[in-house]
Amino acid sequence: MDTALLDRPLPADVSAERVTAVEHYTDRLFRFRTTRPASLRFRSGEFVMIGLPHALHNGKPVFRAYSIASPSWDEELEFFSIKVPGGPLTEHLQRVRPGDMVLVRRRPTGTLVVDALLPGRRLFLFATGTGVAPFASILRDPETFERFDEVVLVETCREVAELAYARQVVDGLADDPLVGEFAGRVRLYDSATREPHVREGRITALLSSGRLFADLGIDAIDPAQDRAMICGSLAMLRDVAAMLEALGLGEGSNNRPATYVVERAFAG
Ligand code: A2P
Repeated sequence: MDTALLDRPLPADVSAERVTAVEHYTDRLFRFRTTRPASLRFRSGEFVMIGLPHALHNGKPVFRAYSIASPSWDEELEFFSIKVPGGPLTEHLQRVRPGDMVLVRRRPTGTLVVDALLPGRRLFLFATGTGVAPFASILRDPETFERFDEVVLVETCREVAELAYARQVVDGLADDPLVGEFAGRVRLYDSATREPHVREGRITALLSSGRLFADLGIDAIDPAQDRAMICGSLAMLRDVAAMLEALGLGEGSNNRPATYVVERAFAG
């Protein structure tokens, strides 16, 4: 990659990549794709730090944790981002166009990986807002379907239009060369909280009222066979985790796989 546009040399673990595509969903959410650093290996569901050459703090690029939304086999990287007005990184990131340069630190990490879960039959993915990004990666990885018979993506956003990204990922599975044959094993259960929707209300309310189970034709979450991943705001992580614990699930990690996992890197 040509780094001549940069004023200073990049740290050894940072690559300059080119934006290949950008799609805006709302005035708050967008996705973009970039070329992939040749040496970057990651597990689907992990995150990296990204920055921009011109988004600086004290003269140095500002880096933020971003889940990689593309699967580990993809030759490009995809990211799903919020746009924060005046945000040190996203104020600039929301303006990227194909051909622009994005900085990627090649140190993937994270707990939302199938390795951190004990074997099970059904995988629940609970997301709010941009928390759906790591699940866009996991849903497009054949390994997910080697480990689980069924995957249920449960997503809540404020507005209906914010749900479009997850819908696009799930609808695209059928035509995917690697996971197309598993598309019938994925269900999307989405809801909006601040606009009329067929399913209104938070994930937590849909769980506690039993509506989620009734709609999906599931008796309950069973710790013997159900596994879960959670990604969203700090309050959402806390509330969903408490509900899963009450149902008998326990939190796992890379070192100690268990029945559910949480990613706290983005929770503000
Ligand atoms: P609400 O509209 O009732 O706040 P945000 O964009 O602020 O991250 O929120 C994304 C979605 O997550 C919103 O629909 C929001 O609902 C919902 N949400 C916020 N806090 C929680 C929580 N503690 N548990 C479940 N959902 C939550």
